[in-house]
Amino acid sequence: MIKIAPSILAADPLNLERDVRKAEKAGCDWIHVDVMDAHFVPNLAYSPDVVRRLKEVTSLPLDVHLMMDHPEKLTDVFLEAGADSLTIHAEADADVNALLERIREKERLPGIAIRPHTPLEKALPYLEKAGLVLAMTVEPGFGGQKLEPEVVDKIRAIRDSGYQGYIEADGGIREDNIRMLVENGLTVAVMGTALFHAEDMAASIRWLHTVSRGE
Ligand code: DX5
Ligand code: ZN
Repeated sequence: MIKIAPSILAADPLNLERDVRKAEKAGCDWIHVDVMDAHFVPNLAYSPDVVRRLKEVTSLPLDVHLMMDHPEKLTDVFLEAGADSLTIHAEADADVNALLERIREKERLPGIAIRPHTPLEKALPYLEKAGLVLAMTVEPGFGGQKLEPEVVDKIRAIRDSGYQGYIEADGGIREDNIRMLVENGLTVAVMGTALFHAEDMAASIRWLHTVSRGE
């Protein structure tokens, strides 16, 4: 069964605790936390303090996605704050291998992310060290965008390479395209708008889990 990771970018920032508790009660698997620096992406989002507080209100794994240049500045801080998985962009200005090793050393799950138009080759040198590959299905920065269908080929290529870690996609995932993603190898679905704006989040998550079992 795939993991459903609601992205709190689509939650109410003034009611994060309420929304995260709601997502946990609705049966999701991980909580996805976007970090944006207004440089690597044109937006700003959650700080280590938010992760620290989220850790106190949920027992779900916190899946932290660093959309920032120089992620080495905050890697340790996010690990200390309670990130269970920490994903670095292959395009970031950083010694990516060293960061993935650092995350593993701290016994958390290291992830490598690529933007939708970055060729998969850019991530290949890091796959051995990464327990998760995040294929961005939209240009990172904002929720509510449309999934770029070309990324599906990338997801399939990761699966066909025999990669054993999690294959995650992020951006524009909805009830009408998740089946196709799962059929091509997706194992973790990050979903913002489709879950936090759903009429009944619990029913949506039940349905998404069912689809991912091939039913
Ligand atoms: C985009 C973020 C996503 C975003 C997904 O930069 O990384 O996590 O919140 O949101 P939706 O599901 O609304 O596309
Ligand atoms: Zn994300």
